[in-house]
Order: sequence, then structure tokens, then C-alpha cells
Amino acid sequence: MTYIPNSIQARDIASVVHMQTNLRKHQTDGPVVVTRGEGCRVFDDAGRDYIEAVAGLWCASLGFSSERLAKVAYEQMRSLGYYHLYRHRSNEPAIELAEKILAIAPVPMVRVVFQCSGSEANDTAIKLAWYYWHAKGEPQRSKIIARRFAYHGNTAAAVSLSGKPDMHAGFGLPFANFKHTEFPHYYRQHEPGESEEQFSARMAEALENLIQEEGPDTIAAFFAEPVMGAGGAITPPAGYFDKVQAVLKKYDILFVADEVICGFARTGEMWGSRTYGIRPDMMTSAKALSAAMQPISAVLINERVHEAMLAQSDTYGNFAHGFTYAGHPVAAAVALEVQKIYEEIDIVGRARRLGPLLQSALGKFGSHRLVGDVRGVGLILGMELMQDRKARVPFEAALGVGARVSAAAQRHGLIVRVVGDRLVFAPPLIIEMGEIEAIAERLGKALDEVANDLDREGALA
Ligand SMILES: Cc1ncc(COP(=O)(O)O)c(C=O)c1O
Repeated sequence: MTYIPNSIQARDIASVVHMQTNLRKHQTDGPVVVTRGEGCRVFDDAGRDYIEAVAGLWCASLGFSSERLAKVAYEQMRSLGYYHLYRHRSNEPAIELAEKILAIAPVPMVRVVFQCSGSEANDTAIKLAWYYWHAKGEPQRSKIIARRFAYHGNTAAAVSLSGKPDMHAGFGLPFANFKHTEFPHYYRQHEPGESEEQFSARMAEALENLIQEEGPDTIAAFFAEPVMGAGGAITPPAGYFDKVQAVLKKYDILFVADEVICGFARTGEMWGSRTYGIRPDMMTSAKALSAAMQPISAVLINERVHEAMLAQSDTYGNFAHGFTYAGHPVAAAVALEVQKIYEEIDIVGRARRLGPLLQSALGKFGSHRLVGDVRGVGLILGMELMQDRKARVPFEAALGVGARVSAAAQRHGLIVRVVGDRLVFAPPLIIEMGEIEAIAERLGKALDEVANDLDREGALA
């Protein structure tokens, strides 16, 4: 496409680097410039509106604009627009926010370490796991285990933790002491006749085998998202976390729950850890913490980790870690107000009520000829596109079926996330039934269009 010189698209192409984007293609295709948002919808610079079925990047839990949160940010900037948490300094919004999230944590947690993004939160949690084992006199416990196709962010350590080969390629990553165990995707990976429980047992056994191969006394921590988001909205198979936690306990390995997507009602409980009975030593949280209106994240730590940090601080005279903007008063004030809104609108009750409606409205596509499997929990759902549902034969990657459905959906005013040939839905938590129906209607048109095209090309079974 050729853009008019000096158009907003041409200026973008000439100035901005886009993440997770084919940079060469961007030079010709250009951007969709989003100019405003209202509830679950965003509008581009030509005035077209789209239902945002993945809340931006799984984060805009209260939609895309807010007078109330704008006022809070404005007032906070007028009274104290910046202060930090270094060297015994503090600010009131950070203190209040820490108290608030400790009060709602799914298991007893005693302190909060603030950062500005999910990646930084995971990076900090990695460092804290190392710090913990150094304090315990076991510095050789330096390896960290996560799952294949997990996503934990993009700083050098967080992306090493992530199990996505496309994000390692070309960067010389992951770092050597990051190991990856099996991808617990039941629909794709189960053996014929294998139940979910049996599959979970096999996943836990694979984890134990990896621990044995690496040496149990070299493993510091295991990281997991309760529901794997960027891996494709993969819900854990029945019994998975019980079995995994038994293994971790046996070898005294720290468990870090990455609640960056699942936190704040996404799964129908305040935390994914609550939905799946996870009892983590640390939890990372971001995104819906501030409804994505401000960049802020948090690591929650339990007594065990905190005691070790105190001991380290005694040894070294200082907890030598930090970020300039960690606990930023404006971000914290906005996040605090978001927590008040969650209480007022009973965010967990909403997610419990609307989750099943989303699951059933989109679940009906389970019988569509392009769809192999539809699975989700609360207000998160993954839809696997498959050439042959029963035999679990995927489409040829070269057909780009997922990308074609996404493009068709966008033409019909619907933004979905595609992970390979898996469509992911995680709409703002304020979504209403009418919008869920609109998502289903627009998606139906997109799926039918792509199915007809594939039929014409002779690519359907
Ligand atoms: C589970 C999970 N962890 C961490 C991150 C990284 O968060 P951020 O992009 O804020 O660094 C993401 C981002 O999508 C995520 O989904």
C-alpha cells in the first residue's frame, strides 16, 4: 500500500519500531492507528470501530478510556507527580496499593516489590529466587524451569523464561540456566485414550524427569501462568497443578505464579491461583492491576522469601535492586482507584456471570468446519483451528489460516489475537452480553469467509 506523504501512517512507518511485527512488511502495510477508545471498542483514524476481544494485550480490563481514572491521575500529578522507593523513601499511593493487594492475595503474602511491567516483575522474581538460594547457602540452585510455549515477558531473563522459540531466535537466547518442561496442551498433546488426569500425571512426570536430569539441588524455581495466555489461552488439564506442586514440594523448589494475565478476575476468581489451587511462594502481577491505564506491576512475596531477603540485606547492608519508576505515585494512585472500581462493580461476580456466556457464545463454534477445539475459563478462551478435528490434523502452516481469520475478523470490526492457528479471546471485563453476541456474529462471518476461500482453494478436508 502507498500512503500519502505526511499521513499519520507514513509518519509511523518513518519513525516507529513495532514490537512483534514483521518490520519489512510494516514498511508497506503500515499501521492501524487507534485514536480513541470507548468501553470495549476502539476507533481508528478513519473512524472505523472495532470490538477489542482481547482487551488490547489482555490488559484493558475496564475498557479503553475513563474519566474517573483520568481525574485520579490528574489530582495525583498536582499533589505529587513523582517520588521513588529508594533508600527508605516512600509515597502514600504505593503504600496503600501494597496493603490492598496483600489483603486480596490468594495465599498469605507479606510484602510487595513494585516495577513497571510484567516482564520486569518476572525478572525481579527470577532475581529474588536466586537471592533466596544464596541466602540459604545453596547458590548452586541457579536453574529456573518454565514450560514450552509459556510467555513471561521480553527482558533478557523473562524471555529466557518464556518457552517461545520465535522470541529466542536471533537473540542467542535463552540463557543457559533456563530450562523448559512440557507444554501442557491437552487437546494437541494427549495420546489416544489418555484422560486429562493421566495427561497431567505424564506432564508432572516429565517435570520430575527434567529435575532429575538437571540435578534437584541445581533448581531454584518453577514459573507458571495459571492459564497460558500468549501460548494460546491454554487452560491447565484436570489435576495438573496438584501434581506439579507435589513434585516441586518434593524437591523444595520455589513456585512463582505469573498472574500477569490471570490476576484480577480474568479466570472467574480474583486470581488464577485461586481457580487452580496454586500456592505460590511469589506471584507476579501487572496489566489489570491498573486496568492498563498506567504501567505498573508487582511481585508479591511470602514470608519465606522475605525472611531470606532480610538476611541478605543484613549480609550486604542493602537490598541492591530497583527501578526509578517502581511504585510511581501516579501509577499507584490509578491502580488503587482501579481496585476500588473492581469492588464497586464486583469484578469477580461479573466475570463469573459473563464468563459462561462468553464460553457458550463462542463454544458453539466448536462444530464449525475450521475449528478443532474450544476451551476456556472465565473471560478467557482459546479456539484451535484444525484441518481435521477428530484426527487432530492442523492446517499447513503456509496456509496461514489463523492470520486469515484474524484479518477477516478485523474487516468485520473485530480484533482477536492469533497464536499460530489458535484464536484467543480475553475481552475487557466490563463486556456486556450484547457485545459478546456481536463478537460471535462477527467471528462467525470471518470463519465462514475463510472456510469458503479455503474450500475454493481445495485446502479443506
Ligand atoms: C503471562 C505474562 N507474563 C508477563 C508478561 C509481560 O508483561 P509486559 O508486556 O507488561 O512486560 C505478559 C505479557 O503479555 C504475560 O502475558
